[in-house]
Amino acid sequence: MIGNRILAARECLKRLDADLLLVLNLSNIRYLAGFTGSEGLLLLSPEDGWFLTDSRYTSQAGAEVTGAKVIEFSNRMDTLVELLQQSGATRVAFEAGSTTVAFYQELCARTPEIEYLSADTEMVGLRTVKDAGELEILERVAAIASEALLETVARLKPGMTESEVAWMLEVAMRERGAEGKSFDFIVASGERGALPHGRASEKKLVAGELVTIDYGAIYRGYCSDETVTVCLGQPDAKQREVYETVLSAQRAALDAVHPGMSFRDLDAKARDYIGAKGFGEYFGHGLGHGVGIDIHEHPTASPRSKHVIQEGMVFTIEPGIYIPGWGGVRIEDTVVVGQNGCRPITRVPKELMIL
Ligand code: GLY
Ligand code: MN
Ligand code: MN
Repeated sequence: MIGNRILAARECLKRLDADLLLVLNLSNIRYLAGFTGSEGLLLLSPEDGWFLTDSRYTSQAGAEVTGAKVIEFSNRMDTLVELLQQSGATRVAFEAGSTTVAFYQELCARTPEIEYLSADTEMVGLRTVKDAGELEILERVAAIASEALLETVARLKPGMTESEVAWMLEVAMRERGAEGKSFDFIVASGERGALPHGRASEKKLVAGELVTIDYGAIYRGYCSDETVTVCLGQPDAKQREVYETVLSAQRAALDAVHPGMSFRDLDAKARDYIGAKGFGEYFGHGLGHGVGIDIHEHPTASPRSKHVIQEGMVFTIEPGIYIPGWGGVRIEDTVVVGQNGCRPITRVPKELMIL
């Protein structure tokens, strides 16, 4: 599998008419070469590959990396420059969006004979369509997180802090085999629900409040992403109206997904519904994003998106309504695209849970 991935990266190299591809993004390095550590870079030529890392990772890289020769460095830039000069390359493609200006400037200054060009546009789609092995892991990580959430909400009580809820959820995920969490959980209760990214705080849950919980696990290097909004007691008429609006918008988008549809049109399915119900000004963010090795990855579903849905993509559908001074609702599932539609891999039922 990894061999095919490197072939796809070499196709990028060919399209860019470059001698070498310098891969700096650790998620791409993991995807292409299998390395799971936190320091290294991958250099690919049409025939060869080199993986550069420091002494902390030499043995690990020896065991994990395929398709590239492992080289240990004591100074990353010195070793890279040496390798680039030995290769005789004059055109090198690199991930401009995954490095710093300082790195780029030093590289240019030390290798003036080389022209550097961005590979970002060519490489952006590399990980977008998931293979069978990735789909299996993504299903598993989504299941771990959903099961943990169900255990956690069964224990929610007024008086608990949002941070306590986040911790219970993290423990429940770890107990089910998660390696960690895919981001700092959002637990936003009552008026804090109006913060789309309201990280869990010391605020206590109060009876009658809506509580939005956005959470994800990591398992075998892959992320999950799901959001539920629950009610601590019977909802009032407005809570019900806002919840039902978001749920119907989410379902309209879920039902509409099919290969060939634009992400812009998909975003519009949910956005137009929310707008027609009079809540348009309270839904500011895009409808969703790809999920995989990164929690947010290509593609995005938004009014500005230029991409088209393909079979095998995995992305979120997560409309929300956020009303300052009142609170909010978000409902999020991660779906996998099939031949004719999509299937959620996140598992918590999305009818309003009244606790
Ligand atoms: N976890 C942030 C998001 O749903 O995109
Ligand atoms: Mn989320
Ligand atoms: Mn998301």
